[in-house]
Amino acid sequence: MDKSELIRSHGHILGLRDINLDIAAGSLQVIMGLSGSGKSTLLRHINRLIEPTAGRLIVNGTNVLELDEKALIEFRRKNTAMVFQKFGLLPHRTILQNAVYGLELQKVAKARRIDVATYWLERVGLKGFEQKYPHELSGGMQQRVGLARALCVDAPILLMDEAYSALDPLIRVEMQDVLIEIQQEIRKTIVFITHDLDEALKLGDRIAVLRDGELVQQGTVDEIVMTPADDYIRRFVHEVNRGRVVRVDAAMAVGAISGTGVTVAIDDTLQDAARKIAASKADSADVVGAGGNVIGSVSLRQIVCTMIPNNQKSEESYVQAIDHH
Ligand SMILES: Nc1ncnc2c1ncn2[C@@H]1O[C@H](COP(=O)(O)OP(=O)(O)OP(=O)(O)O)[C@@H](O)[C@H]1O
Ligand SMILES: [Mg+2]
Repeated sequence: MDKSELIRSHGHILGLRDINLDIAAGSLQVIMGLSGSGKSTLLRHINRLIEPTAGRLIVNGTNVLELDEKALIEFRRKNTAMVFQKFGLLPHRTILQNAVYGLELQKVAKARRIDVATYWLERVGLKGFEQKYPHELSGGMQQRVGLARALCVDAPILLMDEAYSALDPLIRVEMQDVLIEIQQEIRKTIVFITHDLDEALKLGDRIAVLRDGELVQQGTVDEIVMTPADDYIRRFVHEVNRGRVVRVDAAMAVGAISGTGVTVAIDDTLQDAARKIAASKADSADVVGAGGNVIGSVSLRQIVCTMIPNNQKSEESYVQAIDHH
């Protein structure tokens, strides 16, 4: 029974159904979907703030659903940290006191708590604000405190539920850059909920799209943009500038050699690759894979075709590229 039928015939709301999602350690998983599609519900299953009716939830080999109450509290404290849309700062505490909060719960010694919190506050750009109170900070700054507080506990899993949705567009982009920069260093497993497609494409290693409690598609940015599973997702991604988000491996001819002496990297965006080729006066380049070897070639023509939506040729070359992988 789908969501609408369930509510019609039984008066119940379908939360989630048939969710099967693998999130690689150290990756950033984006969850997208319209309001009410089940994003927060899914996120809250990960630390069992919501109990599923059935299924398994494996974190690092442990089935979280089998933990007793005490072990579950321990699991939440040690393994997960959350960043909320509405910041969730304690108004009577200073910024530093807010940042150390999770470490207090972990009973970390005071001097160490302060060291760690001071470090992360500086990393998110709040050095000098340690003794201020939340109401003395702008929304963007308060969100930085929320992020620092989550990073302090050093949990391997970071759960971010529309953490940036309340910020104005420029501050939001700034916060995305802060997260990307920090993630390169800390390599946490981040589950990031957003309504914003640009944000999803910029941040996500993988994206999962929910509708009415069901997973309608999951995949890499390239897969979602180049081969949307249905009209709902196609409408979402239609206006996307593919040049900025799709990578060379979607356009290349695997196994071919250009002979031009120009090279691009397989994970260059189409736009960056086109720029490199255009600057060289050649019209194609060899593609260097992750291992440093040439694994194929790409031409300006292939890049342009891949950048144009609903273009038969581009979809074909994309499918071929996937097959070769
Ligand atoms: N505590 C609850 N009890 C009963 N139903 C709930 C509860 N929380 C959410 N729901 C229902 O579950 C569905 C999914 O809600 P959820 O909050 O996960 O959506 P969401 O995708 O996070 O939406 P938004 O983008 O608005 O935050 C909705 O239909 C909602 O009405
Ligand atoms: Mg929500």
